[in-house]
Amino acid sequence: MRPPRAELHLHLEGTLEPELAFELAERNRVALPFADVDALRAAYEFTDLQSFLDLYYANMSVLRTAEDFADLTRAYLRRAAAAGVRHAEIMVDPQAHLLRGIPLQELLDGVGPVLAASERDFGVSTLLIAAFLRDRPAAEAYSVLESLLAAGAPLAAVGLDSTEVGFSAAPFAPVFAKAAAAGLRRTAHAGEEGPASNVTEVLDALGAERVDHGIRAMEDPAVVDRLARDRVPLTVCPLSNVRLNAVPSLAAHPLPAMMAAGLHVSVHSDDPAYFGGYVDDVDDALVAELGLGRAERAALAAASFTGSFLPADRVDAYLREVADWAASEPAEA
Ligand code: ADE
Ligand code: ZN
Repeated sequence: MRPPRAELHLHLEGTLEPELAFELAERNRVALPFADVDALRAAYEFTDLQSFLDLYYANMSVLRTAEDFADLTRAYLRRAAAAGVRHAEIMVDPQAHLLRGIPLQELLDGVGPVLAASERDFGVSTLLIAAFLRDRPAAEAYSVLESLLAAGAPLAAVGLDSTEVGFSAAPFAPVFAKAAAAGLRRTAHAGEEGPASNVTEVLDALGAERVDHGIRAMEDPAVVDRLARDRVPLTVCPLSNVRLNAVPSLAAHPLPAMMAAGLHVSVHSDDPAYFGGYVDDVDDALVAELGLGRAERAALAAASFTGSFLPADRVDAYLREVADWAASEPAEA
């Protein structure tokens, strides 16, 4: 059986499977520069983060209406429920759609109602995170945040994603301060391709409460000490890291070392349509390639809930589900 999990590092736009991309392309009369689903899937060979982002943003051209965003969200939640996800904190990239001329309201009208009904329809509780693009001006992010707040967007948190190397997080401090003042939680990508100092930067400059990826923190013992001492949740995405060449192989992934160092790590799927899997696939790969056993899988599942933005009583209820899973799961041979 699958351990119950919280999915904390998931880009909704990264759940766009090639089949749905072609369906939406046809519905919206948008041309994709690929002959068919197989040709698109064959293009999922990445050299680094940027080579992925280029295709990820290009494929968004098929997402135009609230109905498209709703279909995408439903497809993800159905798949996530099958993977054992009980709670999902879902990132969207509003700027990526605004820059293509898609009104914010299409995104919110599509995603919002599906997330609101998700616990009833899929057995998955949800929170929504608006992520800002690090390679765009911080002033643009600030104005998008103002628009989101004015629109009454059902946000729980803000995040920071897109190209890491060459773009500092510090200019986004006013955006994160405004989000905090509005009662929103804060997470940020850092230490995926960039150095350990990028992890400290998002903690200090943005007040990030959680770090997405953070694997390169392992290169600086002082940063590791700080993350361990402060129990900063790190949402690690092993399949993504391999597919984007942030690590040479799953066998060489720093996850076991991060756990051994006492870091608060949980594992997630990032952009599952592009990186070969949802959290059940991540779980399978970690068992197969890193030899994780029941105790480590239960610890990662528990950390996914304690690293969430849920209130303590909800976390406790989910932790009981993890304990029940561990009690019923046979120990490995
Ligand atoms: N946007 C979608 N996936 C991302 C990733 N892995 N890193 C940074 N930005 C992203
Ligand atoms: Zn990510």
